[in-house]
Amino acid sequence: MSLDDLRTIESVDRHDTRGVLADFPQQCRRGRALRAVPAPSGGRPRLVVVAGMGGSASGGDMVAACATDTLDVPILVHRGYGLPAAAGRDTLVVAMSYSGETVEVLSAAEVALARRVPLVAVTAGGALGARAASLGLPRVTLPSGLMPRMALGYLVFPLLAVLAGCGAAVATEADMDEALDVLAAQADDFGPASPTDKNAAKRLALAIGNRLPAVYGGPLTATAAYRWKTDFEENAKVLALAGAVPEMNHNEIEAWRGPGARDRHVVLLREEGEAPPIARRFELVRELVSPAAGGVSEAWARGGSRLARILSLAYASLWTSFYLAVLHGVDPWPVPMLDEVKRRLSSP
Ligand code: F6R
Repeated sequence: MSLDDLRTIESVDRHDTRGVLADFPQQCRRGRALRAVPAPSGGRPRLVVVAGMGGSASGGDMVAACATDTLDVPILVHRGYGLPAAAGRDTLVVAMSYSGETVEVLSAAEVALARRVPLVAVTAGGALGARAASLGLPRVTLPSGLMPRMALGYLVFPLLAVLAGCGAAVATEADMDEALDVLAAQADDFGPASPTDKNAAKRLALAIGNRLPAVYGGPLTATAAYRWKTDFEENAKVLALAGAVPEMNHNEIEAWRGPGARDRHVVLLREEGEAPPIARRFELVRELVSPAAGGVSEAWARGGSRLARILSLAYASLWTSFYLAVLHGVDPWPVPMLDEVKRRLSSP
């Protein structure tokens, strides 16, 4: 199938996911302007816990990955009910749920309230938005109408602003400017109007085809690798693997010898200026896995800052999984199985 036939893309992409993805750089620009109201009043936290699930948690992952080398406040992304015991009064809990209806996040918020842990809600509304409004809690109100995983710009940038506001800045204004420029350039390169020979996202989706994608990152890009996995699963509805060097050199690499490896496609998430031991490990993975694997591809982060790099890989993931969905004839927007789980959980 050709990914350059716009009518084919339109016939599969019935909810205009392509329009939402094309708008992603502007979404990030709008997200950058959003602030918590009222402004959080606490001081600098000793620990930040981002409570979220799925696409909303992913925003926390991206910010935590950006912070690793520079911020002396740990950022813990908590996926699940309640809160870890470490979350005390000197912690800031950010309850992130795009829909505001995710029960795990609602439960985390209730535990934070019970423990009197400072709490900020980042949400487009729902029960979380209503609870925050009724208590007068700091709340970032996000524009509604998107799929949470496609609202990454509305999650990452407000979280950066919340952290900067309490003295735990993760990215500079220059980092954010650069990230927005990088994303704008990518929108032109990856959009449906950009032909396959110039479009790395289309080429990667075609290279993967019917194989199972296995995405490996390094110290920074491993966070993006997990995002690629979940984008393949939610958008293209195909199972995917995610891992990281050096850890996968100690276990997962062993699974790349059998005949089943032909049905898998490796994607290595690389960045310029990798530490030499990391670059060496990526080369070793390529050498050792190539003879057995169905294929090996690389996707390179763009930009210089950690923020630009991680967001550029997340944006590449959105487009690659979009094209893989089109190749499989699957509408990338709806997630009926996720919805069914939520529906069954909410009915007694
Ligand atoms: C759906 C998606 C999911 C949700 C998750 C939590 O597009 O990305 O992974 O993010 O089910 O829902 P929210 O983000 O609304 O709290």
